[in-house]
Amino acid sequence: MSKRLLSGVKPTGRPHIGNYFGAMKQFVDLQHEYESFVMIADYHALNTIQNAEEMKENILGVAMDYLAIGLDPEKVTIFKQSDVQAHTELAWIFDTITTMPYLMRAHAFKDAEAKNKEISVGTFNYPMLMATDILLYDPDIVPVGLDQKQHVEITRDTAEKFNRIYGEIFKLPEAKILAGMQTVPGTDGQKMSKSYGNTIPLFSTDEDITKAVMSIVTDSSAGVPHNVYNIHSLIRDKSSLDALYAEKAGKYKDLKEALIDDLKKFIAPLREKRAELEKNPEKVLEMLKKGGEKARATAEAKMKLVREKIGVTLY
Ligand code: ADP
Ligand code: TRP
Repeated sequence: MSKRLLSGVKPTGRPHIGNYFGAMKQFVDLQHEYESFVMIADYHALNTIQNAEEMKENILGVAMDYLAIGLDPEKVTIFKQSDVQAHTELAWIFDTITTMPYLMRAHAFKDAEAKNKEISVGTFNYPMLMATDILLYDPDIVPVGLDQKQHVEITRDTAEKFNRIYGEIFKLPEAKILAGMQTVPGTDGQKMSKSYGNTIPLFSTDEDITKAVMSIVTDSSAGVPHNVYNIHSLIRDKSSLDALYAEKAGKYKDLKEALIDDLKKFIAPLREKRAELEKNPEKVLEMLKKGGEKARATAEAKMKLVREKIGVTLY
């Protein structure tokens, strides 16, 4: 049997090159090697998107993003989480075997608490829902960015705990985090993130690319502006990059212009492919619906075993 991959992103807004190089590109690169399930985590996004129109638009948006970056729906099961009821059902079951102090150690929870934010039960419980996303499909690997590593560890712990109590049914997955792409920096040098306003969107217009690159903070040493260099290194190989930065040492404007040119060349074909898909949203929705049916069949088979194991199956 071929090995399995599962991953996903939340439909919370436009994806950026950090999402792409940290996680999404891996889905594309590995789709021929692994039987792949790639989801749109809409119930996770519900913690932040509480507007139906925006939610709908974002879900369709991620489906198009997946196709535009090159996922082949004939090979990969692309689906949305809310199409598979087993996720929320299993999340409850996991809640009953997980303690509050354990979940209070999660980074996302601790960060929110440190900032004195009002934390919803959904945010607190986020790792349990994510554990179901993964465990229902028995994947071998879960390609993600470094910030999701702890969630995959929690998933493994939860699988082990369930297996210990009820008997072996869940496989322990491995996070797959690309060396060198663990945390793609944003225009301010911090982690690129939708919530920090420091992104270069993956499907930017030429104008937005120029604006974003011009706003990169140029902290430098030996004439090399590090933030510019680090972003540039995503799309140009090291030897030609080092030659360029040596030749143009100290010339920050020239280096930013070189980065703008390279980003434009890299992004244009992706943007064009996405624009093509936007002309036919029905087709994209049809693909998503089919993916949901396939994912549901896989997850339901697993869920049936879970119900038997916990003793609620009487007829
Ligand atoms: P954001 O932090 O922008 O809201 P998401 O939480 O939607 O991004 O992340 C989607 C995927 O992209 C996850 O696998 C995450 O680890 C990865 N990712 C997000 N930001 C980065 C980054 N700056 N570098 C590497 N990977 C990232
Ligand atoms: N939590 C992930 C993020 O913020 C998104 C996600 C939800 C996910 N379910 C998943 C990633 C399952 C991998 C596997 O990016």
